[in-house]
Amino acid sequence: MNIILFGPPGAGKGTQAHRLVHDFGMVQLSTGDILRQAVKEGTEVGKIAGELMKAGKLIPDDLMIRILGERLDKPDTKNGVIFDGFPRTKPQVEALDKLLAERHSKLDCVIEIKVDENALVKRIVGRYVCSKCGAGYHDEFKRPHKEGVCDICGSTEFKRRPDDNEEAVRARLVEYHEKTAPILPVYEARGIVAYVDGMLPMGNVATKIAEILKEKGAKPISA
Ligand code: AP5
Repeated sequence: MNIILFGPPGAGKGTQAHRLVHDFGMVQLSTGDILRQAVKEGTEVGKIAGELMKAGKLIPDDLMIRILGERLDKPDTKNGVIFDGFPRTKPQVEALDKLLAERHSKLDCVIEIKVDENALVKRIVGRYVCSKCGAGYHDEFKRPHKEGVCDICGSTEFKRRPDDNEEAVRARLVEYHEKTAPILPVYEARGIVAYVDGMLPMGNVATKIAEILKEKGAKPISA
């Protein structure tokens, strides 16, 4: 099953994608994570992406589409993918259709995580991850059980994204409204969009998404 998790920065796409990987054994394809890795490794893509990301701007379509095509060629994507952060523009929608069709595959569902935008800046500015294992935390919504110690791996090192400051978040929201939100009607016209309330607690959002996927035939790992 191929699904898109759709919503503005901070809607909870990454949070929910992690849960789906765990609960349904799906593969998460986060274009943001791919770009951050490229920045870390100092590749040519990373050099182009780093400054744009810091400023909250989208990366050019041709580059993103090439990166996505290369990722879809890896064998782990054969049984379906959670697209987290792609597509974000109309050319990316067209490219995704083409890339999937070339691989004898198609998009099954788009899940829009609907949120109150007033909550987003607070959500994003407060988030941080464990430097060692990547577990996600939040200053207010999800603190480690023992202050300063990762619940998962016990590390005491944490980091924040360079684009998780108020100015960059506001720029990301402008990009979202100008370029990304207008693609949702394309999928609505195909009748493949489902909606969840992203203002519910994380576990409840996950339950709702799981219900949608089960209705479409996805099987949880535990079933
Ligand atoms: P990307 O990494 O995709 O960032 P984003 O879309 O801005 O999304 P975020 O990761 O900020 O938010 P999220 O929805 O995943 O929320 P999360 O689950 O973390 O992209 C970064 C940049 O890369 C872009 O700005 C662009 O430059 C570039 N890029 C990437 N893809 C591109 C593309 N296709 N084309 C062009 N450029 C591209 O949750 C946020 C916080 O809220 C967390 O702290 C979490 O704990 C908390 N939270 C989550 N759910 C809840 C809840 N229900 N209640 C309370 N708190 C919650």
